[in-house]
Amino acid sequence: MIQSYQRLLDGNKKWVETKLTLDPEYFQNLNKGQKPDFLWVGCSDSRVPANEITGTESGDIFVHRNIANVVVHTDLNFMSVLQYAVQVLNVRHIIVCGHYNCGGVNAALTHTNHGMVNKWLRNIKEVYAKNSSLLDSISDFNEKANKLVELNVIEQVRNLAKTSIVQEAWKNHSLQIHGWVYGLDSGLIKDLNVMMKEIEDLEPIFRFS
Ligand code: CO
Repeated sequence: MIQSYQRLLDGNKKWVETKLTLDPEYFQNLNKGQKPDFLWVGCSDSRVPANEITGTESGDIFVHRNIANVVVHTDLNFMSVLQYAVQVLNVRHIIVCGHYNCGGVNAALTHTNHGMVNKWLRNIKEVYAKNSSLLDSISDFNEKANKLVELNVIEQVRNLAKTSIVQEAWKNHSLQIHGWVYGLDSGLIKDLNVMMKEIEDLEPIFRFS
């Protein structure tokens, strides 16, 4: 019986063959280094692969993914990714891309005790609390959850702007932070048009000198 993981190794060989047929130097060129223009902050959900849904290639996007695409300023993993992307790779766009029907957001809407993951979902519950008057007025669960998906993306765009890493970059060059939501049922990405691109987009209390 073929093990399920063998499919991945076989798939890899086929993928290499295809790439080399189209461009014999594809891997040699990638091996020289990366210069992506984009940092992607997305959900770990297996149905939202950054490159595939944006029609991009290896080398195009620097990627960070976690449950429900949350930006937490004490997350050493994420903050290291952000610093490297902004200060070393010099990306000019950071994209927070959530997705409708997000399991993390749905879980945050319940009162179930999920153990460890409570601490992570707490970040999303805080977004709910901040927007409770709007969200409480939506009775349909899916509609409420999808609105929270959008509000969560907006909050994470703002969380990025609150970092000294982004603010230092803004002093020197263009850096746009975008908020998008991917539709699992359509394959289409919706731009929430909440771009932040300068210190004036942020309340004064969060600005570093
Ligand atoms: Co998700």
